[in-house]
Amino acid sequence: MTGLRKRRIALLTSGGDAPGLNAVIRAVTKTAINAYGCTVLGIEDGYEGCITHRYRELGIDDVRGILSRGGTILGASNRCNPFWYAHRAAGETEPRDHSADVVKWLHDLEIDALIVIGGDGSLAVANELHQLGVPIVGVPKTIDNDIKGTDVTFGFDTAVTTVMDALDKLHTTAESHHRVMVVEVMGRTAGWIALYAGLAGGADVILLPEIPFSLDSVQRKVERRAAKGRSFTMVVVAEGSMALGGAEIYETIGTREYERRYGGMGGWVVEQLRARLEQEVRLVVLGHLQRGGAPNGRDRLLGTIFGSGAMHLAANGQSGYMVALVSERGDPGSPTLEPVPLSIAGSGPRRVPLDHAAMVAARDLGISLGEAEPATR
Ligand code: F6P
Repeated sequence: MTGLRKRRIALLTSGGDAPGLNAVIRAVTKTAINAYGCTVLGIEDGYEGCITHRYRELGIDDVRGILSRGGTILGASNRCNPFWYAHRAAGETEPRDHSADVVKWLHDLEIDALIVIGGDGSLAVANELHQLGVPIVGVPKTIDNDIKGTDVTFGFDTAVTTVMDALDKLHTTAESHHRVMVVEVMGRTAGWIALYAGLAGGADVILLPEIPFSLDSVQRKVERRAAKGRSFTMVVVAEGSMALGGAEIYETIGTREYERRYGGMGGWVVEQLRARLEQEVRLVVLGHLQRGGAPNGRDRLLGTIFGSGAMHLAANGQSGYMVALVSERGDPGSPTLEPVPLSIAGSGPRRVPLDHAAMVAARDLGISLGEAEPATR
């Protein structure tokens, strides 16, 4: 601990915001100051702040009262990659590699560690910067819950609760009007939000990126329900799902896998079902509602544990790692904090295993996962 006295720690929040970001900022700042006597520098707007050289010092007073606030007090930039970025304010029209400047700037700031709070894309960039000599510790952030190496990310639980609340509300109106309600949710190429919220919110059909869906099977599910007198059906569609033999729907906004803007699959499913069903089919796209608002208790707690854990890794000189919550090797009821190499954290999305307990439960309850040959019940 004494080795880090008066050392300098920088932190940034990168990628799409997630409930609990401020809990992490607060925990890092308090741990850095209280336990290690560090100076804390908050870089503004994620990696963009590293390119445009914007930061401010954070003291205890700056993080007072932010635990329950959504968003991030530091600002964030989604898909800003220092290795390929057009700095438009500086007149750049084409993207170029800014990494050497970023490494020099961080070096000149005399930071001992940079804590990057981000999703898999941001952690992949963190790993590349680490290879160039920047001491970095990562914190797993995303509502999508899709980062490799950790059982859970902060932000996910609040998003699931938001979707569940929406499904509860949509349920009553769908039932009153005898409608098929199609609800598109976020999650990119992983179905964690759709599956967990679909189960918690009593969905009848859940379409996931992990299982290409059969429209015939979805249609049959709706018709079977109608035949049993259930004149409404709740269909949750993950934005990254796709029909059997079809394709994902996204807009390409860069060269990397994570530089895709998903959205539209819910609308496509609605069009297809309208052509097949007598019943009225309606669409709700929950969009950024899922990222907004106050973090729930679990995400405040997770953010706090991750923030203090990341700061301890930084203080111990364990750069090149992400702090992770891992239960696989231990007691599932009592997961432990572990350092996981950034190379793993940034190595692409963690999808829902097909034998996951939530998948099993969904099938057991007769929820359609859009599989081509659903079990006859
Ligand atoms: O990764 C979090 C997330 O909310 C995804 O679920 C979604 O596809 C994406 O970010 C949306 O990003 P943006 O707000 O930049 O469009």
